[in-house]
Amino acid sequence: MNAPQSELRTAPYTNPALPIPERVEDLLSSMTLEEKVGQMLQLDARGDLEDLVLGKLAGSLLHASPERIVEARKLVLTTRLQIPLLMADDCIHGHSFWPGATIFPTQLGMASTWDPALVEQGARATAVEVASTGLHWTFSPVLCISRDLRWGRVNETFGEDPHLIGALGKAMIRGYQGDGLTDPTAILATAKHFAGYSETQGGRDASEADISRRKLRSWFLPPFQEAVEAGCRTFMLGYQAIDGIPVTANKWLLNDVLKEEWGFTGTLVTDWDNVGRMVWEQKVCEDHVHAATVAVEAGNDLVMTTPQFFEGAQEAVKRGDLDESLIDDAVRRLLTLKFELGLFEDPRIPDATQQAKVIGSAEHATINLEMARRSLVLLSNDGTLPLDGGLNASDTGRAEATGAPMTIAVIGPNANDPHAQLGDWAGASGQINWLPDGHPRHLTSTVLDGFRAVAPANWTVTHARGANIGHLVPDPAGATYADGQPRPPMFLAAGTDEAMLQDAVNTARNADYVVAVIGDTVALAGETKSTATLELQGGQIELVERLLETGVPVIVVLIQSKPSVLPQAVLNAAAIIEAFNPGMKGGQAVAELILGLIEPTGRLPISFARHAGQLPIYYNQIRGQHGDRYADLSQDPLFAFGEGLSYTTVDYTNLRILSENITADGQVQATVTLTNTGIRPALETVQVYVADIVTSVTWAERELKSFTQVQIMPGQSVEVDLSVPARSCSLVDQHGHRIVEPGAFDLLVGRHSRDPLILSAQFRITA
Ligand code: NOJ
Repeated sequence: MNAPQSELRTAPYTNPALPIPERVEDLLSSMTLEEKVGQMLQLDARGDLEDLVLGKLAGSLLHASPERIVEARKLVLTTRLQIPLLMADDCIHGHSFWPGATIFPTQLGMASTWDPALVEQGARATAVEVASTGLHWTFSPVLCISRDLRWGRVNETFGEDPHLIGALGKAMIRGYQGDGLTDPTAILATAKHFAGYSETQGGRDASEADISRRKLRSWFLPPFQEAVEAGCRTFMLGYQAIDGIPVTANKWLLNDVLKEEWGFTGTLVTDWDNVGRMVWEQKVCEDHVHAATVAVEAGNDLVMTTPQFFEGAQEAVKRGDLDESLIDDAVRRLLTLKFELGLFEDPRIPDATQQAKVIGSAEHATINLEMARRSLVLLSNDGTLPLDGGLNASDTGRAEATGAPMTIAVIGPNANDPHAQLGDWAGASGQINWLPDGHPRHLTSTVLDGFRAVAPANWTVTHARGANIGHLVPDPAGATYADGQPRPPMFLAAGTDEAMLQDAVNTARNADYVVAVIGDTVALAGETKSTATLELQGGQIELVERLLETGVPVIVVLIQSKPSVLPQAVLNAAAIIEAFNPGMKGGQAVAELILGLIEPTGRLPISFARHAGQLPIYYNQIRGQHGDRYADLSQDPLFAFGEGLSYTTVDYTNLRILSENITADGQVQATVTLTNTGIRPALETVQVYVADIVTSVTWAERELKSFTQVQIMPGQSVEVDLSVPARSCSLVDQHGHRIVEPGAFDLLVGRHSRDPLILSAQFRITA
């Protein structure tokens, strides 16, 4: 007989004075199989809450609206064991689905700052907001590597480079998890999607990843290993299969590598219905009983949104297919996490007073504005920027004109579109149903709002939309596939709207400068929204062409989820600014940059293709191919990893290696002199690449190993110390082992990955 609620109230597991392992064992020993399997379920809180909490005894919920967080807690208090729920959501660039929360630039935008400390600050702000709302866990950061720009989830990544991803990922994890799980403002971080999910075929979301173990170890696993070292408490598994095995079933990846080799002791959560997908999509399991067995045996702890796991796992134990002790192991890990968070004593329910203080607070808005400013990447500039007359900021934050009053025409489909600006996983981006109109409009400064707020008081700001991009429509093949699974909608590009276009041209003609804000929309970003092409959609190219024909200088601002292929018209513009999805403060930041109130400091975390046929495109390609171009097109990216201009120029000279011979456990120490040769201040990102001159296996031409940011005033020279640990000058040998091969290396120091002026010096790693 199970003990009744009254006896359980005095049970040892309720005693906070006892050590956690003792409490876990006591609670586990009083749980029925049904209760244990329920703990392993993370279900969608938009369903029937009573069924989820009382029927399926779910241990965790995701996507709970503010009201449902409270209701779910009430229901738990009516269960026999009252085990607190772990409440989770995708708070991946801010508290995505909490009305009025601070929404930061997407991860790709954050990565453009190349500033781990700032990214950590942003994540801390997010954690403080999230923790006040009764959630304990964010499914962030994404540590996938973006190499195929057609993939719909490029915006969620830190770009293409493992070193940059690792550095920013660790920073984000520190920010979320704060001073440790007992900190009431800490939330659990998730390293996802483990691993190789982004290595799609043709950019198609969640397609089987064609990736060897050696390739995984070479580029895809290192950021995840760093996440373990940073103490990341949870990992989410990718949807896809590798070499025939869905990640959910991959014992090598989950047990041999993650747990045994790296020592991960945290919690594993599957992605959305990964267990069910093994039945209905990948068809490697005949039913949910089999799928539950496979998933538990591979070491999964929490099964996301596969309600059939509830019956499936119980049946598997009853049939003798699944050893109940494996379920016990998973539940032990889950309960440990709940005890470590202190949820039995303080379930961290929503705190209205704290919410009023922290959600969307002025302090967080300041961090957000700094993140947005620093995320902007100036890609080209014929000298038009910064605009004349905007040099002096008054204490209102508004520019003060030094010359004649000007008219700025802010034109384009993304000039005044808060949704495109916030990007995916934010309010009305489609994942949840309680924010149909998105975040309160006044919280987002669009580029038009930005100019109205910061342009000199005697300047005129005008606006026209000029073109539409397109929208999602139902797939004509039907709303569902033959097996009843939903079929994602399709994107329908807009045609040219002559009247809208003409209005934009007229508006441009009456202006001194045009700021054309173009790009993509949330309909072209995210899960199931990979694109076959990378062209600017709808009437946008024609719009830019017609704006250029007016002869008024056109500054293009790209608000887009990922690098698009830029047509000649855009390349002919006076300047191009990449903003990605710059968050709530993005419009203000863009206006400030154009008016010269701030400096452009962002650097690309990802390469731009000239044509989708160049994909996958990334700077750290493996050497050894016939030639270095296609017969019909260069292989060179349009803009390369690490690129970004300033309003000044910085010279690099005098690269010196302090000791040319180092041991494999030593540090390469070097210095370089930077001189600001222009008239504006610089925040320069010094990038340090290493090339291993001869390798036992083919390897990348060069790899980023370190970077640092330096402030340099006009005319000033600074000597910058650089340091690269010799152990990071490693490769993965033919047996899959990461090793440092003694020999000669080039240290390459410059502005970006293909800097023609990059400085080079040689060092040797001795045996
Ligand atoms: C599926 C996505 O792949 C994952 O990133 C996300 O965290 C979960 N859904 C939960 O929303």
